[in-house]
Amino acid sequence: MSMIRTVPLDESMYLIQVHDHRSKYFEGVWDIPEGVTYNAYVLKTPDGAVVFDTVKATFTEDYLNALWELVSPDEIKHIVIHHMEPDHSGSLPALMEATNGKPEVWGHAFTKRLLASMYGLNPTFHAVKDGTELNFGGERMVFYLTPWLHWPETMVTYLPERRYLLTGDILGGFGTPRAIFDDNTKDVEIFRPMARKYFATVVGHYKENVTKQLPRLKEFGVHPKMVLPAHGLLWRNDPEHIYDRYVEWAQGIPTEGKVVIAYTSMYGYAEEAIGYTIELLKEHGISPIVFRYVDEHHDEVSDFLGELPDAQALILGTATYEGGMYLPMKHLIEEIIHKANYNKPLLVLGAYGWAGAAGKEAARMFEDSAYNLVDVVEFRGKLDDKGREKIKEGIEKLLSS
Ligand code: FEO
Repeated sequence: MSMIRTVPLDESMYLIQVHDHRSKYFEGVWDIPEGVTYNAYVLKTPDGAVVFDTVKATFTEDYLNALWELVSPDEIKHIVIHHMEPDHSGSLPALMEATNGKPEVWGHAFTKRLLASMYGLNPTFHAVKDGTELNFGGERMVFYLTPWLHWPETMVTYLPERRYLLTGDILGGFGTPRAIFDDNTKDVEIFRPMARKYFATVVGHYKENVTKQLPRLKEFGVHPKMVLPAHGLLWRNDPEHIYDRYVEWAQGIPTEGKVVIAYTSMYGYAEEAIGYTIELLKEHGISPIVFRYVDEHHDEVSDFLGELPDAQALILGTATYEGGMYLPMKHLIEEIIHKANYNKPLLVLGAYGWAGAAGKEAARMFEDSAYNLVDVVEFRGKLDDKGREKIKEGIEKLLSS
């Protein structure tokens, strides 16, 4: 069930957090049974309040009610927009209306255009650059641009005296943790795979920018003791933890022995080959993580993509279909290359009835990707000894790459 909660982070900074369990598909595409939070923040000062982001439009009424518990509309003097995607900007029109359009708005130059085109808003606007400061109510807020994480206008705010870093989407994750902070190791352990899935599906296409933009913040002297993202857990016990994971996931640093398999099978031939492959991997002491796309079951693509950033190797098994790639696998490969394009060893198995084609098409699809295709093993119908031998060789190549 969806809910909203307001949590003081200290004597003057507040989190307003929506737990969204209504959205089944984030961005209309990524399956999120774990839900997602929208984290908005409010800073109260003697001269008025600063609002950092809002929440998805669906929750506007709850959000504004929570906000009015903290401040009155005329106390809000500034609004900082880290990111214009509607899961954070959706309540802006109602907020601007309630405040008679008086707050000054701070954001990336492109945000001004998006405010006008998305919501017809034309507030007093300050286009910020790296290091632009808002000094207000005895507080210093410094802005840094983080373009293409994951939209062009994304940015962060650092409060140097408090050492708080508000990061928008970046360093966030899926899920609706009961905990607010990373104080408990178990909460972090539960959250980490949901953050990795979020990373792959939301940020993955722009992962090179993670390795560019996050270290830049350190060069600017940003060393937060509290990381405040727009989704998921807040970080005060170990703020470096989520930063380090993001950098590792962006680089695709593998976890030793983590092999991920995804396969499609129409009538069980590809599935049988995958079964043999799993046996071989087990002989090597590896228990692969397996995603199935068969007649009675399809795993969620978002969960599959979420396992790739720290995988050691990937195996795809597929049926051949109408002289080419079986369509669910074609779609899967497009998503892999778009969202999780890593230099990792890859083995492709293709089952066919008349002529091998799916394996060749997979090879063509991965040709310009970062993946290291170690082998394509195609076999006709039921897997025979020759097919088994080829798969064995393929596994050896995969694990020695
Ligand atoms: Fe959480 Fe890109 O929006």
